Amino acid sequence: FMQVTASAPGKAILFGEHAVVYGKPAIAVAVNKKAYVTVQKREDERIHVDIKDLKLSGYIDPENNEIEIESRENSKKGILNYVLSAVKMVHGSAQGMEIQINLDIPIGAGLGSSAAVTVATIAAVSKFNNMNLSKDEIAEYAHDVELEVQGAASRIDTTLSTYGGVIYLSKNAEDIVPLEINWNIPLVIGCTQDRGNTGELVESVRLKREGYPEVLNPILNAVEALTNDAVISLQKKDEKKIGELMNINQGLLDAMGVNTTELSRMIYLARKSGAKGSKITGAGGGGSIIAYCPGKIEEVTSNLNTIEKAFNVEISKEGVRIEV
Ligand code: MEV
Repeated sequence: FMQVTASAPGKAILFGEHAVVYGKPAIAVAVNKKAYVTVQKREDERIHVDIKDLKLSGYIDPENNEIEIESRENSKKGILNYVLSAVKMVHGSAQGMEIQINLDIPIGAGLGSSAAVTVATIAAVSKFNNMNLSKDEIAEYAHDVELEVQGAASRIDTTLSTYGGVIYLSKNAEDIVPLEINWNIPLVIGCTQDRGNTGELVESVRLKREGYPEVLNPILNAVEALTNDAVISLQKKDEKKIGELMNINQGLLDAMGVNTTELSRMIYLARKSGAKGSKITGAGGGGSIIAYCPGKIEEVTSNLNTIEKAFNVEISKEGVRIEV
């Protein structure tokens, strides 16, 4: 192949973040905000990566495990570690490659941008090198990349970027079941400027649970119960219940201590603008909110946009794909 482009979707958690760390279930969806990775042949044998949306570019060297950044100091340069590790998995013959990455997922907002980049990179580079990987293999390699780069990782993001759709996960995200949802869930995402640190937030909930086990354990059990109720509500398209369960989940996330003033402002503005439910999505402490907005997408999006960046997302039934 002279040129290959692959795309992979990002994700949003609908129910159960944080509780999922304690073996409770969660529901997450792939969203139609994607990473696009294009690989082309280069005249020399180097591998050059360009992420225009982040004004970030540089050379990666899979043999020596090195990254040489060209751009000035860039707070988003961490994404290149995922690209390097992904290329290492499927590099094949040592030929030169020009890798161009386009993102319509904001980075570091809890929307699975690094998994989407990882999955699309594995798909594009493997195809470019004439390897035919199955989706299962892509998902496995992508999980290995996250383990290598982050030290620890659940399979939520890499699973959704690979297969798309809606998933129910349990047992510390080891057990993943696709959910058949046959309607388009109308969702709006709002992103704060702050980037919560997932590791620190998970640790803060752990400490809170250690300090107040008799308070926190029932909260985690309540999240489990509402997440299981949400499966039924989503399957029945029970709009009122879906919204109420999201709002209850938000109250419990607040109790866990992962809410912020900025997230709260957006959450309540979304409800005031007609959202049936709204909550933090992901780790909190900054990052993003998700609002469920039947018939109110425009109102919620434009009102949220007056304070932070907001956009409508749809569920991406499709996962990773080679673009024609
Ligand atoms: C972060 O996106 C979701 C958390 O539940 C952490 C995790 O599951 O790894 C907060």
